[in-house]
Amino acid sequence: MHHIFAERARNAEVWDVEGRRYIDFAGGIGVLNTGHRHPKVMAAVREQMERFTHTCFQVMPYEPYVELAERLNALAPGKEPKKTLFLTTGSEAVENAVKIARMHTGRSALVAFNGGYHGRTMMTLGLTGKVQPYKAGFGPFPAEIFHAPFPVELHGITVEHSLAALHSIFKCDVEPRQVAAIIIEPVQGEGGFYVAPFDFLRELRALCDEHGILLIADEIQAGAARTGKVFAIEHSGVVPDLITVAKSIGGGLPISAVVGRADVIDSVGPGGLGGTYAGSPLGCAAALAVLDVFEEEGILQRSLELGEHLMKRLMEMSARTSRIGDVRGLGSMVAIELFKGENGQLVPDPELTKSLVGLAAKRGLILLSCGMYGNTIRILVAITGSDEIVDEGLDIIEGCLDTLTAA
Ligand SMILES: Cc1ncc(COP(=O)(O)O)c(C=O)c1O
Repeated sequence: MHHIFAERARNAEVWDVEGRRYIDFAGGIGVLNTGHRHPKVMAAVREQMERFTHTCFQVMPYEPYVELAERLNALAPGKEPKKTLFLTTGSEAVENAVKIARMHTGRSALVAFNGGYHGRTMMTLGLTGKVQPYKAGFGPFPAEIFHAPFPVELHGITVEHSLAALHSIFKCDVEPRQVAAIIIEPVQGEGGFYVAPFDFLRELRALCDEHGILLIADEIQAGAARTGKVFAIEHSGVVPDLITVAKSIGGGLPISAVVGRADVIDSVGPGGLGGTYAGSPLGCAAALAVLDVFEEEGILQRSLELGEHLMKRLMEMSARTSRIGDVRGLGSMVAIELFKGENGQLVPDPELTKSLVGLAAKRGLILLSCGMYGNTIRILVAITGSDEIVDEGLDIIEGCLDTLTAA
């Protein structure tokens, strides 16, 4: 956490209570793909606020919920009819995707991946594949959750290795016909911005089809235009059964969703899903405006162009220092991984990463680290941020790295 208290924000900039200006490369952890306080989002929320702020959808339904569901149904990949359930947080979306998968399949077990992050409630912590700082001390977690390695070639885990581990789980731990769902982030967020290889996603789809298992794509961080598509999994051509969405779909207001096959979601009877604030009118109004902004401002294309620019600049930086050992991304979901060389080997450097985040903040840039080794800097700048501001932020990263590695 930065010891900086926010006072106001606009698009890719934040000002603190002392009047200092910061460029925001964190976006409140991937919530602000359309920037802080996008004027169209603000206007839509204001207008909704003048009508009503709450009825509870299960008590008295309202049009923005239905309209948003229809729009997400149309955007979700796959030809089969879709339905959408709205909730409030990302964790709640994942919880509900699991409930739906269990009801539909009549099975209980779940498979998730090392390094995956799915939230902070008990089920989602159980699914999360990173002990420190998320799980340690908070167990026990729900039973029948199994973890396979996420393929990251950079750290020696190939697609074949991950697939072999999945087969091993089915051989040694749980029979596949007891598995309700496999959940995966198409691009890991907290885990380190690793892109799931598309052939791996296709293999997962085939494995799910073979055993009647549902495939859940957790798009909470990677979705909502971050990778240049509304849903990151679209890049692979794989059609998941359920998709979880949150963060940037609400443009700064809390709303989350489970979007998926209508026949799967319809397995749950009336009253089985919901929540007092689930799909709040303000959240729905904000998300409808976010989808308008995607269309009207060419956000998907802009995300791809922004990603190319980020990759180019970061590659140039990596050519100047051996401390940047990897530059990767999908669309504008881009990261660098920092290493120190010891005996000719690449050793993750979480200390340098921490120093970079700290020094950048002093120089007016909010950065976020992530990754299993704490050595990744992820970039989640507003896709609507101007080229000048993005470059100003990248210049700060470059200058900080020069300072920190000068010795
Ligand atoms: C991929 C993924 N899933 C789930 C969550 C949990 O969302 P929330 O913090 O809104 O509960 C997050 C949050 O970072 C996430 O990145």
